[in-house]
Amino acid sequence: MLTSQSRMFLLSLLCLYSAVNGAYYIIDGTSYYLEENIKVPWDEALSDCQNRSMTLVSFETRREFEKVVQFLYYSVHDLLWIWTGGHRTANTSSWNWDAGSSITEFHWAEFQPNLPQDEDACINFCGLYKAWDDDECLLQLSYMCEEVHENEVPVI
Ligand SMILES: *[C@@H]1O[C@H](CO)[C@@H](O)[C@H](O)[C@H]1NC(C)=O
Ligand SMILES: *[C@@H]1O[C@H](CO)[C@@H](O)[C@H](O)[C@H]1NC(C)=O
Repeated sequence: MLTSQSRMFLLSLLCLYSAVNGAYYIIDGTSYYLEENIKVPWDEALSDCQNRSMTLVSFETRREFEKVVQFLYYSVHDLLWIWTGGHRTANTSSWNWDAGSSITEFHWAEFQPNLPQDEDACINFCGLYKAWDDDECLLQLSYMCEEVHENEVPVI
C-alpha cells in the first residue's frame, strides 16, 4: 500500500513529467509531435521520434514546409530552432532525410549552409525566419517528429 505522502510524491512527479513533455499537433492532415521543452542532440531527437513510432520531420514538398512554418509562425513556438530529419555525413555532399531519401528542395536561410564539409551537419529550422540552418549535430535543440508516411521506412 502506498502512504498518502508517497502517493502525493508520485502524483507531483507525474505532473512534472507531463509539464515538461511536448505535444502532438495535426497540421494539414499530418500528425506531428513538437518537443519544445527538452533540448537534445540530433541523435537523441531521432531516437525519441522512433520510440514514438515516428520520424524526425522531413519536408518533401514546399507545401508541407509552408504549412508547418505557418503553424509555428502564429504560435508561441515561433522563435524555437527545431531539429528536422535532414543531415549530411562528413565528407559527403549529399543531404538526406533520416528516413533515407535525399533532399531535393532546400529552404536555406541566407549564408547557410555554412558548416565545413568535413563535419557531420544536421538541419534545423525556425518558424519566425521560415528558413533552414545547418549545425553540429551535437547542438541541443527542440525537435519535431512526424508520422511515418507509407513511402518512408524508418531507420531503426
Ligand atoms: C528509446 O527507447 C529505448 C529502448 O527503450 C531507450 O533505450 C532509449 O533511451 C529511448 N530514447 C529516448 C530518446 O528516450
Ligand atoms: C574528412 O576528411 C578529412 C580530410 O581527408 C579527414 O581529416 C577527416 O577525418 C574526415 N572526417 C570524417 C568525420 O571522416
